[in-house]
Amino acid sequence: DKGTYPYYMLKEIDEQPNVMRRLSAKYLSQDGQTVLDPNLLKAMANADRIYLVGAGTSYHAGLVGKMQLERLTGIPTEVRVASEFAYDEPLLSEHPFFIFLSQSGETADSRQVLVNVNQQHYPSLTITNVANSTLSREATFTLLLDAGPEISVASTKAYTAQIALEAILAKAVGEHLNRAVARQFNLKQQLALVAQGMQMIVDEKAQIEKVAQDAFVNAQQAFYIGRGIDYTVSIEAALKLKEISYVHAEGFASGELKHGTIALIEAGTPVIGIITASRTASLTRSNLAETEARGAKTFVIARAGLSEAGDTFVIPDVDELLTPLLSVLPAQLLAYYTSLNKGLNVDLPRNLAKSVTVE
Ligand code: F6R
Repeated sequence: DKGTYPYYMLKEIDEQPNVMRRLSAKYLSQDGQTVLDPNLLKAMANADRIYLVGAGTSYHAGLVGKMQLERLTGIPTEVRVASEFAYDEPLLSEHPFFIFLSQSGETADSRQVLVNVNQQHYPSLTITNVANSTLSREATFTLLLDAGPEISVASTKAYTAQIALEAILAKAVGEHLNRAVARQFNLKQQLALVAQGMQMIVDEKAQIEKVAQDAFVNAQQAFYIGRGIDYTVSIEAALKLKEISYVHAEGFASGELKHGTIALIEAGTPVIGIITASRTASLTRSNLAETEARGAKTFVIARAGLSEAGDTFVIPDVDELLTPLLSVLPAQLLAYYTSLNKGLNVDLPRNLAKSVTVE
């Protein structure tokens, strides 16, 4: 039931602070210890490589998971689009561990990879929002997102729940491997900060609605740019805009712009820079200025510690492995208001189904 909300998507965006709190309460004890199946941790700690597999938004959550897993566990991690992996399996390492990311647990492309993985007797984990879904039943282990039903076709709270749970998993495996970086990662406190930060952003909806109206409702195209973890959020942000507002949007690695894509910039083209990674913040700002010099209308989503006067959305500081949990929210809201103000059916975009059960 969407209650007083006009669309499920807005309700699901607003639920994200609570989803963070629930995950923290379920998988982290009061004193911050991870509460996960020791057999799962053992299986992952024995792997020489982790493969994250997903489609669409779940694939994008995997891109963040790779960074968290590599940093906290030290295990090399690859992320693959399910439909590409199913029939062109890469050369696997000797002891691979597979993680399937799927809100619905029913995505046929991901399931086909799991069928192959099971034929080869490799251990696997499904991270899903739906208990007893196909991908959950067929994998060795399951972790539930407990995000509550996601009805809107555009995925929002499942993406942030996946990223938070990947962080918890990465910390737990890293601790199992006795890594100081994992032990020192105060995830309990960080997730509390994330939940607070999310609440701040959703409370400032009106500001985002105005930007949607001023620059996106009549746009033919739009771009998100960023580097590293911010690049991964850029492509998720662009997907949201494409699928529900039908604005042709792309996310680019900001350093690649000058290698061709900057030719797309026209007078008034909206370009949003996502800036949460400290090492590359000034580079992304220069790249944004390059698009502005060619007529783009630029916007910035920046982390407080890296923000400058005039930035459009300032999000609170959290650990750099968790910034997507906050930087994606203005983008979700921007897609929502652009769709809404164009008079589209936000929850049921054309040509799309919530769960894609054909390959
Ligand atoms: C985007 C979206 C899709 C799904 C994709 C995978 O907003 O909803 O890209 O993320 O179809 O679905 P799941 O996660 O159910 O496997």
